[in-house]
Amino acid sequence: MQAVVLVGGEGTRLRPLTLETPKPMVPVMNMPFLERTLRRLKEAGIDDVILPAGYLPEAITSYFGDGSWLGMRLRFVIEATPLGTAGALKNVEQFIDGPFFVLNGDVLTSLDLRAMLADHQRTGGLATIHLIHADDPSAFGVVVHDSSGRILDFIEKPPRDQAPSNEVNAGTYLLEREVLDAIPAGRPVSIERETFPALIAAGRPLYAYTTDDYWIDLGRPEAYLAAHRHIFDNTMPLGVVPGVDGPGRDAVPPSAVRGPIFVGNGCRIAPDAVVGPYTVLGDNCEIGPGAVVADSLLWDGVVVGAGAHLNTAIVASRARIGAGARVGAGSVIGHGVSVPANTQLAPDARIAATAS
Ligand code: GDD
Ligand code: MG
Repeated sequence: MQAVVLVGGEGTRLRPLTLETPKPMVPVMNMPFLERTLRRLKEAGIDDVILPAGYLPEAITSYFGDGSWLGMRLRFVIEATPLGTAGALKNVEQFIDGPFFVLNGDVLTSLDLRAMLADHQRTGGLATIHLIHADDPSAFGVVVHDSSGRILDFIEKPPRDQAPSNEVNAGTYLLEREVLDAIPAGRPVSIERETFPALIAAGRPLYAYTTDDYWIDLGRPEAYLAAHRHIFDNTMPLGVVPGVDGPGRDAVPPSAVRGPIFVGNGCRIAPDAVVGPYTVLGDNCEIGPGAVVADSLLWDGVVVGAGAHLNTAIVASRARIGAGARVGAGSVIGHGVSVPANTQLAPDARIAATAS
């Protein structure tokens, strides 16, 4: 069985994190999110994966290579200009040899891919789309289906008051190879705005596969933070140990721990600092005396000065938070940024390093 994982998006809503790190390489519990997705595919027996990429592709290809270290076959296809979610599939048509999964590259879910495959075989549809229930469907592809699951309508991101259902496209599809015949070549095509609506209008059998699995699109900072809280709480089961987990757990002074936390290798934490709850430290972070880091995600090599406070913040690699600084809730600090000592950052600040 094959899968295509779409990893070409620019990750605009995660800026400044994605200015240097493409969305698939954004860490989830210190592992690039795409690695987690690929390991999940492998567990489901899918080891032949095609990855249409385009934005900062070297950061992805240099890490994964041909995938042999994961026991998988990975083929990257780089788009010179973005081809859209269906155009990206058409562009890899020559590598596809049968029914295949398609995964949006930014979705974290407990969906059982084997169960979805069984359902696809049961209905005999041309395509099966995984759906979940959403409180606000307007941010997603909204689907209407009959009691047999047959899809009657697919509307991408309708106005809030016009969504005809609360069942939304969860970004995992199982497609028969024939779907590729319906995608025009050589221009950008959206599977959500063009291909699915055209197939439905032509009376082709598309089926809904609705589950109540854990599901989140990591494409916004709030969602990225929330996903970590859900992993710590085991709402999204990733096997994180309660209290202190991570390869660097033994180096954390117990006096500094407010669990749950996850700690990378080589961190140095002052005994009177406070780390946690719901906090992840990447490799080689330094947390100074009296500093407080709560509900926050720090990537590799982040330095937090004495007495600085971070709350609900995301800090990209190599950034330095000066002594006594206050980083307001919801702030996102880019790679290598230096926040001067005693700065008070407003909530939801977005700070990127200025080009030098
Ligand atoms: N190769 C390639 N080329 N990949 C792309 C392109 C492209 O031109 N455009 C987007 N992608 C990838 C993104 O990297 C991401 O993994 C996936 O396609 C979906 O794009 P997003 O930009 O994240 O879309 P969205 O989140 O607004 O909406 C999509 O996902 C929702 C669920 O999370 C749609 O599929 C919605 O219908 C769906 O509900
Ligand atoms: Mg998305």
